[in-house]
Amino acid sequence: MEKKILDALNRQINEEMNSMYIYMAMAADLDEMGWGGMAHWMRKQAQEELMHALKIQGYVKDRQGRVVFKEVKEPQLTWNTPLELFKAALAHEKYITSTIHKLVKLSRDLDDIATEVFLNYFVTEQVEEEDAAHEIVDALEKIGNSAGPLYQVDSWLRKRE
Ligand SMILES: [Fe+2]
Ligand SMILES: [Fe+2]
Repeated sequence: MEKKILDALNRQINEEMNSMYIYMAMAADLDEMGWGGMAHWMRKQAQEELMHALKIQGYVKDRQGRVVFKEVKEPQLTWNTPLELFKAALAHEKYITSTIHKLVKLSRDLDDIATEVFLNYFVTEQVEEEDAAHEIVDALEKIGNSAGPLYQVDSWLRKRE
């Protein structure tokens, strides 16, 4: 595997770990706000990010590359409302989508067909993740600050498996 690709994949592992940490912080803050269902959803999200990091690690190994771990950044710890928090999560997913797309372009430039195919999973995954976050932001925007509907969103998100 080309060094440029290996470096980029290692950077992506770090991005996924940063994502995990951001969502863990969001889950903790949602717990603090008293929205346990939303916190549950966010913890599931954090677990998915760890899975993404491990998936890339596995691919690097399969290509006889060496994984390198970088420092995970300290995340923001508090948000004012669930809406603000989920908007930040959506913005973060959009940022991650851009990093995945850059990786795809890099593997195309370097004719690394295997990496491009491997990344297909992540391209599709990002569409789903953005859509899921978007759906929640949309619901929270509609209901504003009324407690009743917020409870409904909370029990909806508690159902995530
Ligand atoms: Fe991810
Ligand atoms: Fe994600």
